[in-house]
Amino acid sequence: MADTLDVAVVVGSLRRESFTRRFAQALASIAPPALELEAVPIGDLALYNADLEDSPPQPWVTFRERIRRCDGVLFATPEYNRSVPGVLKNAIDVGSRPYGKSAWDRKPALVVSASPGAIGGFGANHHLRQSLVFLNMPAMQQPEAYIGGVDKLLDANTGFANDATRKFATSIMIAFEDWIRRHR
Ligand code: FNR
Repeated sequence: MADTLDVAVVVGSLRRESFTRRFAQALASIAPPALELEAVPIGDLALYNADLEDSPPQPWVTFRERIRRCDGVLFATPEYNRSVPGVLKNAIDVGSRPYGKSAWDRKPALVVSASPGAIGGFGANHHLRQSLVFLNMPAMQQPEAYIGGVDKLLDANTGFANDATRKFATSIMIAFEDWIRRHR
């Protein structure tokens, strides 16, 4: 049996009934057994302010340590105004500092964007990928995951509403395991 891989799941929505989080939970439920996915909360991270680095807030420290020890990162993001929500950008910024000690460095990443709209968060997905280039995170290229009409793709029990979505989701997670093993 292959060794297990620790995957940090970072969701860009704080909303209780977030479709994006539910989709990420559904992805976790069908992931290959070697992938151990754990949600890493970002809602308690103070807005990034370099002045706080003298005595970093405990949530920053905990978050940085959690990201530092993972084997890969699954970003699941909604789209706000054709970009990533501020709360996710803030988490990325917090994890990236102090300069030269970024917790994200070289972590293989999967980007999944989701929206009730038809475009599936394409704008957010690619704005996020722009940051990942600078952060030196190899982001999986294929399959791309722009989940349009996400509100209709989930059932009440955090699973997928239909076989086609489950099949596509399974292909994403199989590819991500391979991606992590090749790049970690
Ligand atoms: C949105 N929404 C949205 N949807 C989209 O497809 N493209 C967009 O640019 C935006 N912009 C946007 C801005 C703001 C401030 C909000 C609050 C919402 C709608 C968005 O996709 C919808 O609210 C989702 O349900 C949000 O994701 P969660 O919270 O369900 O995961």
